Amino acid sequence: MQLSEALTAAYNDQIQLEFESSFAYLQMGADFELRSLPGMGNWMRLQSQEEHAHAMKFIQFVLDRGGKLQLKPIAAPAATPEGVVDAFETALRHEKRVTKAIHELYAAAMDEKDFASLPLLQWFVNEQTEEEATVSTIVDRLRMVGDDRTGMLFMDRELGSRAGAANAAPAAEGDGA
Ligand SMILES: [Fe+2]
Ligand SMILES: [Fe+2]
Repeated sequence: MQLSEALTAAYNDQIQLEFESSFAYLQMGADFELRSLPGMGNWMRLQSQEEHAHAMKFIQFVLDRGGKLQLKPIAAPAATPEGVVDAFETALRHEKRVTKAIHELYAAAMDEKDFASLPLLQWFVNEQTEEEATVSTIVDRLRMVGDDRTGMLFMDRELGSRAGAANAAPAAEGDGA
């Protein structure tokens, strides 16, 4: 069953949002690196890759369903906040916005009885729960560290140990789990 025009438009908006997320994390990662926090830079860069993979996953789905991909301009990322806690709080706010968008997409697919959309969107619902939890934990721990420089360096090292996530795998390779 071909994707409806309305859902195609909604997916194209979501693809734009995922690419914007990827840009936002790439910018923050580069800024952390410039501030001699390479571990946080690494974490952000991997996150950026993951968002890129999300966009590609949606693109593949639109194409599989006979929809027309319409790429849109990507807004320039906002300036990275000076404070590390502020930066991760910004990331958390952004993820909440993305979660809301995914939920709206899910509701639209339900309204249309577009059942083929549901497994994909359920994967994204779960993914957002995970991402919000991860970023929220980082924010909490950074708050605990506060102005303590040793703690900040410890957090930088810890975030630097993040390895390439499975979610960053190309969407074409499978169910993305
Ligand atoms: Fe995403
Ligand atoms: Fe995300």
